[in-house]
Amino acid sequence: MLAASCVSQSSDDPLSGLQVADRPEPEVPDGWARVHVRAASLNHHDLWSLRGVGLAADRLPMVLGCDAAGVTDDGREVVVHALVGDPDWTGDETLDPKRSILSELHQGTLAEQVVVPARNLVPKPAELSFEQAACLPTAWLTAYRMLFTQSGLQPGDRVLVQGAGGGVATAAIALARAAGLVVYATSRDEAKRARAVELGAHEAFETGARLPARVDAVIETVGKATWGHSMKSLRPGGTLVVSGATSGPDPSADLNRLFFLQLRVVGSTMGTRTELEQLMRLCVATGLRPLVDEVLPLAEAARGFERLRAGDVFGKLVLTP
Ligand SMILES: NC(=O)c1ccc[n+]([C@@H]2O[C@H](COP(=O)([O-])OP(=O)(O)OC[C@H]3O[C@@H](n4cnc5c(N)ncnc54)[C@H](OP(=O)(O)O)[C@@H]3O)[C@@H](O)[C@H]2O)c1
Repeated sequence: MLAASCVSQSSDDPLSGLQVADRPEPEVPDGWARVHVRAASLNHHDLWSLRGVGLAADRLPMVLGCDAAGVTDDGREVVVHALVGDPDWTGDETLDPKRSILSELHQGTLAEQVVVPARNLVPKPAELSFEQAACLPTAWLTAYRMLFTQSGLQPGDRVLVQGAGGGVATAAIALARAAGLVVYATSRDEAKRARAVELGAHEAFETGARLPARVDAVIETVGKATWGHSMKSLRPGGTLVVSGATSGPDPSADLNRLFFLQLRVVGSTMGTRTELEQLMRLCVATGLRPLVDEVLPLAEAARGFERLRAGDVFGKLVLTP
């Protein structure tokens, strides 16, 4: 089967380790299921894997990809929940110390087939196309949990979304607007700021610009480049929810502001299967659909990765085998 795999890792030249080639079809262990992938989406996570972050070198070659929607051997249309945990774990699976995301320990979704634990299959609503559904399990689920589980935001509150063009950020803008929040977004790029407003942001600003009012929460995935602005933009008692650090993980903590204004900094990672089901119900109920920037054939995966690395994306990149 055709697959896009990580065969070597380089922090400077991540694409040098990407191989799009035939691989053996996966075996299906007891309790697992095969999904014939109809659509898979790219995430920044796949670039981190090629850079050597989060994927151990002794696991190579590894099929990349966290997200997929497809059809099981017995004909069910499904979305794949990307978090694989200990089968004996109970409760919030994002807190399972043994959890991993597809393509870290188990072969990923950028392939004609992927094999996952049967409990990771979630029925795909008929209202969503395979391409739309394939955007949900990582970026959209992460944004959903940040906004609705971790932030404490209530309808009518103000939220700032940093780095408007990103996969998580576009999801957060659209979901926040659908939930009745006042949405500010930032981007380095003027065209992306205009698109953020089309997507649902009430106003979009240059990265680092002063906002018209302080916000109740910030959705932060950019990291070092925007952290200081995120801290300064919060009202006293506000919440900074962070799930990524694309521009670097070690900003100034701004401790004086943190304690004096009684800010809360909350980490967030992926989401639960239940949150994925809630997210899909929200999409069906509101008509909200993931923003797909481009659909490419799996054979042209390298072009998608190049766009992701260049930051030249607005929404999600989808690959179809
Ligand atoms: N913890 C989790 O469960 C989880 C899940 C999903 C993603 N993540 C992490 O979250 C981050 C974003 O993921 P993604 O898939 O949404 O990535 P992405 O689509 O590549 O988006 C990254 C965005 O960050 C902004 N950005 C990048 N470098 C910047 C800089 N130097 N200064 C200002 N802005 C910058 C860009 O926005 P503009 O061009 O608009 O400025 C870009 O669109 C990644 O680090 C990823 O690993 C974590």
